[in-house]
Amino acid sequence: MPKTLNIFLSGDIVGEPGRRAIREILPAAKKRFKMDFCIANGENAAGGSGITPRTFAELREHGVDVVTSGDHIWDNKEILPYLGVDPVLLRPANFPERAAGRGSVVIQCHAGPKIAVLNLMGRTFMRDADCPFHVAEREILKLRTETPIIIVDMHAETTSEKIALGRFLDGQISALIGTHTHVQTADEQIFPRGTAFLCDAGMTGPHESILGREIEPIIQRFLTQMPQRFEVAKHGIRMCGALVRVETSSGRALSIQRVNIPLENETKDIQAA
Ligand SMILES: [Fe+2]
Ligand SMILES: [Fe+2]
Repeated sequence: MPKTLNIFLSGDIVGEPGRRAIREILPAAKKRFKMDFCIANGENAAGGSGITPRTFAELREHGVDVVTSGDHIWDNKEILPYLGVDPVLLRPANFPERAAGRGSVVIQCHAGPKIAVLNLMGRTFMRDADCPFHVAEREILKLRTETPIIIVDMHAETTSEKIALGRFLDGQISALIGTHTHVQTADEQIFPRGTAFLCDAGMTGPHESILGREIEPIIQRFLTQMPQRFEVAKHGIRMCGALVRVETSSGRALSIQRVNIPLENETKDIQAA
């Protein structure tokens, strides 16, 4: 059994450019950072909104072990039959209990130990959901009977809600990494009782954009308040996330680092186009 594990969590994957980042950046990054396990938020993987069976399969094929999500999980109806059936596709655990799908999973990592992943969603400036603090407490109690290595994807808008949940769970989980805002924050840290934390992992997708969408329609929307089509942008592809090194026996985080890698051959593509 290895003494430590390197666990990566990618922020929201946006559209085809985001999937391209997973296809073309993740394999080399896995080797470079010696990643043992990879989690990715796939709520925007299909055309920028939701996830389809095909895009889910594509992420899995290119090395993503668990796919988390958030408020956009229902955007493509074709994914409904997979929710709750394929255990490595998660929706926030604090959605209503009767909603399709599941919010956590325990996986036997190829390197040996079990890893639990818990997906939660914030409530501040978000759609209605059960209390993430209470649901986290309940879920973590269950997960800790199986493994001390627990990674939480907290899909939420505000930094305060994410920091509060991270502090509340300090010592109970290995890491809490935020997703949803598509903007990577620079506050990576390890709390006193051993939980690694980052407010937002950022976006795996096109950064020459506004949160992954073409720039001009969004500016026009702000200027005019008129409806616009928000197409997924194309350029400035990056894979963003957080890499956490965890002590296998205790589940404590030993280090956390931000990951933000550009797609190297993209400039050539743009010049050729
Ligand atoms: Fe998102
Ligand atoms: Fe979201």
